Amino acid sequence: MKEKFVSVILAAGQGTRMHSDLPKVLHTLLGKPMLIYVLNTLKELNNIKIGVVIGHKKELIQEVIDEENINFIFQEKQLGTGHALMCAKDFWQNADHVLVLNGDVPFLRSSTLKTLIKLHLEQNAAISFLTAKVKYPEQYGVIVRDKNGQVKGILEITERKNTLETAEINAGIYCFKTDFLNKYLPQIKLNPKKKEYYLTDLITLAADNKEKIITKEVSYNEIIGINTRMELAEAMRILREEILKKHMLNGVTIIAPEATYIEPDVIIGKDTVIYPGVYLQGKTKVGKKCVLGAGVIIKDSEIGDEVEIKPYCVITESIIEKKATIGPFAHLRPGTHIGQEARIGNFVEVKKSYVGSGSKACHLTYIGDAEIGKGVNIGAGTITCNYDGIRKHKTTIEDAAFIGSNTALIAPVKIGKGALVGAGSVITEDVPNDTLAIARARQVHKPRRRKK
Ligand code: UD1
Ligand code: CA
Repeated sequence: MKEKFVSVILAAGQGTRMHSDLPKVLHTLLGKPMLIYVLNTLKELNNIKIGVVIGHKKELIQEVIDEENINFIFQEKQLGTGHALMCAKDFWQNADHVLVLNGDVPFLRSSTLKTLIKLHLEQNAAISFLTAKVKYPEQYGVIVRDKNGQVKGILEITERKNTLETAEINAGIYCFKTDFLNKYLPQIKLNPKKKEYYLTDLITLAADNKEKIITKEVSYNEIIGINTRMELAEAMRILREEILKKHMLNGVTIIAPEATYIEPDVIIGKDTVIYPGVYLQGKTKVGKKCVLGAGVIIKDSEIGDEVEIKPYCVITESIIEKKATIGPFAHLRPGTHIGQEARIGNFVEVKKSYVGSGSKACHLTYIGDAEIGKGVNIGAGTITCNYDGIRKHKTTIEDAAFIGSNTALIAPVKIGKGALVGAGSVITEDVPNDTLAIARARQVHKPRRRKK
């Protein structure tokens, strides 16, 4: 079936101005590559076929967007945006129209694209594209119009003689009739200065040949194109502020917005208070009435309601249930699950373990590969010795057990319900329920010999 519209993202460039080993479109904005933002925007258009032109370090990009319904198009040599679209000819050939976007415009909204497509079809244009007014256009192509306001062409930075104070710029987002492209794309000439084929020369060709050109002006913030690390930082600032504002409007207290980082997919319940230096990443979900102390970093974790996380904790891929208290200075590594009202204190590290409700490990402890029941008390300096150098082993501590300070639990080992382990023990055998185990040398007293 012939498609009416297909879309092509141009993402083959190296991004020379980033001075990076990483292709530009893989640079991240608050945790997500900028190309993913553009892709997500396109996915919001009804089932449009998506082609991505890749070239420079293409394997890296394919790894990041490992999706069945994305079509990759190869541009062997990066000979410019016009050449990139030419490389995609087999992809757009059979459609009536093609939507073309640069891969470096992460803030673009799908509603704007819908408007552009609608205009393009209604007006039966050969080219329709987005523009914006900016001060000091620098890197952007600038729209040239005649005295009647008709578009004459686009002047790239390489073609401009003087610096401009304000200008109407090209956003790098276009709809083309494919009939128009078939005719004019082969006519683009190599730009002698940059040795590239400029896609923007199509606008001049269209104007010269009286083809219908439509422009739609949008706000600059939406079409910011990222070419340098400064622009990346500026884009991050804008996005970060937007995200923080959304949470504050939803009832979250953020004490120092200028020092708080929250990634786009994070969810936070109301009346939660966030102290300065907090970084919430990935698919983290924080409940209601929580307190996240200064310097807390949480990634891909689920925090229940009324949880208090004291300053400087690092929490990754963990679950913390309602009313638990964590920190300060605790490290919860992947696979940790802390039950209701449990307490994990300072300098405690937990990995791939379950800590039952109301249990406590308040100081200087390592809990790894353990299953801990309810109401357990783990004394300061307790270590689950889970690793024998080859394999990891499990430690089980049943409900209401009490582990004295400075105990080493040599896994695999099980401490029964209500058992008590004396401080300083090295436990190598299972301890039955309701039993006292002491595994340390008995204290001896010998008379002291001293010179008189
Ligand atoms: C381009 C436009 C400029 C516009 C600006 C908007 C041209 C010649 N200029 O300039 O008018 O104002 O975008 O942001 O098009 N790419 C390829 N293959 C190549 C070269 C580039 O796929 O051979 C891709 C890049 O990966 C990038 C996109 O095309 O995603 C745009 O390239 P870039 O170098 O950023 O163009 P600009 O100089 O910003
Ligand atoms: Ca650009």
